[in-house]
Amino acid sequence: MRFHTERPASWQACPGCGNELTEADPRPRCPVCGGLLEVHHRPPDLTREELLQRFTERRGQQPGVPASGVWRFREIVLPSAGEVVSHPEGNTPLLHREALDRLTGLDRLLLKHEGHNPTGSFKDRGMTVGVTQAVRIGATAVTCASTGNTSASLAAYAAQAGLPALVLVPAGSVALGKLAQSLAYGARTLLVRGDFDDCLRLAEEASARLGVYLLNSINPFRLEGQKTIVLELLQQLSWHPPDWIVLPAGNLGNTAAFGKALREAYAWGLIGRVPRLAAVQAAGAAPFALSFAEDFARRHTVRAETVATAIRIGDPASYDRAVRAIRETDGVVLAVEDEEILEAKAAVDRCGVGCEPASAASVAGTRALVTRGVIAPDEHVVAVLTGHLLKDPGILLHYHRDTEPPPPGANRPVEIEPELAAVERELGKAVTLGKAVTSER
Ligand code: F0G
Repeated sequence: MRFHTERPASWQACPGCGNELTEADPRPRCPVCGGLLEVHHRPPDLTREELLQRFTERRGQQPGVPASGVWRFREIVLPSAGEVVSHPEGNTPLLHREALDRLTGLDRLLLKHEGHNPTGSFKDRGMTVGVTQAVRIGATAVTCASTGNTSASLAAYAAQAGLPALVLVPAGSVALGKLAQSLAYGARTLLVRGDFDDCLRLAEEASARLGVYLLNSINPFRLEGQKTIVLELLQQLSWHPPDWIVLPAGNLGNTAAFGKALREAYAWGLIGRVPRLAAVQAAGAAPFALSFAEDFARRHTVRAETVATAIRIGDPASYDRAVRAIRETDGVVLAVEDEEILEAKAAVDRCGVGCEPASAASVAGTRALVTRGVIAPDEHVVAVLTGHLLKDPGILLHYHRDTEPPPPGANRPVEIEPELAAVERELGKAVTLGKAVTSER
């Protein structure tokens, strides 16, 4: 089908074969060629100034749906949405810590901390739009495959909407905090004896055969929400784009969403220049980095293994969309070793910010790109931290409390008798330790 009359506010299209579908079509893929769909909006009928003024006014409003870091941008996210399912979400901080300038070699690194979202990851931005769309089209149940964050987010938003949720996660490799969330929010949680790629295949099949609405990031409405990470950081920078935006990459939904956000922001005059994207994978789960190294001559798949379970993905679903994002932004893709991720994570944690392992890939990746001379020290860089420190307490306790012999940064808990003398002794050690850390800086 193709729309020949005046276009609706939004519609879906397949970039592969050009087929177009209505906004309300629930199918997860193009029914003609099986490709992934994209949401298109009619360009906003407001001038740049009018649009920016609206975004600014809403940002200053009382916390609530209009001020949500997603729905504040509704004209370019889902203009036809009426009632929305919103926590609200977004409004995450841009942080600066000198210790991380030193680690990465940059004059000034900014961190966009998406762990400050309601369920502790950036997924809430996509999920508020995805679940809103599920309600609009009358879905009776929702599902996703996940490495843990998508499922936690889906569970929370489905609970708010009163929709039954079925989540599929790889048995034994989901971080503790994420699994606990999906149980607590009431999703039916299936521990699949396989990896994430198996879970996604199964979720797609369930959606096609059982009619349950699929809310993985192959669903293009999810990406409309995730675009707002970029929109919000641009707004926080008064619409002066940075030189680089660095993000961790797994299933590549976020890389695709960032590319779309930048393409549209540029096309609609919100920014006069497009930042470069740097997508960072873990070396043991780096099929996209392999393809980038061959100028995207072919699509790779791998059997994924990394300590950063959120991005333990070997066959990323949004590959084609992400290739476009990297090409259009003159971007780069790289892989960093688990040791580099853990070192960056320890530095992010130690300066009081904290993040989950996958998030630290963006800081490790920034450091690697500065070392290789791809990013110059005086360039303006925003690295995205995608998830909260407490998502993965298991890895932290193992590192600090249980690893033998204790690694250099280990902060062992100390059990004491209930006596002031013991507290005094430990206070002395804490002060000595504090001085050592300060002099290292
Ligand atoms: N960082 C975190 C914390 C994530 O949870 C994910 C993906 C990513 C980065 C990578 O984003 O997949 O869009 O390239 N987590 C998904 C999930 C796969 O199921 O929670 P991506």
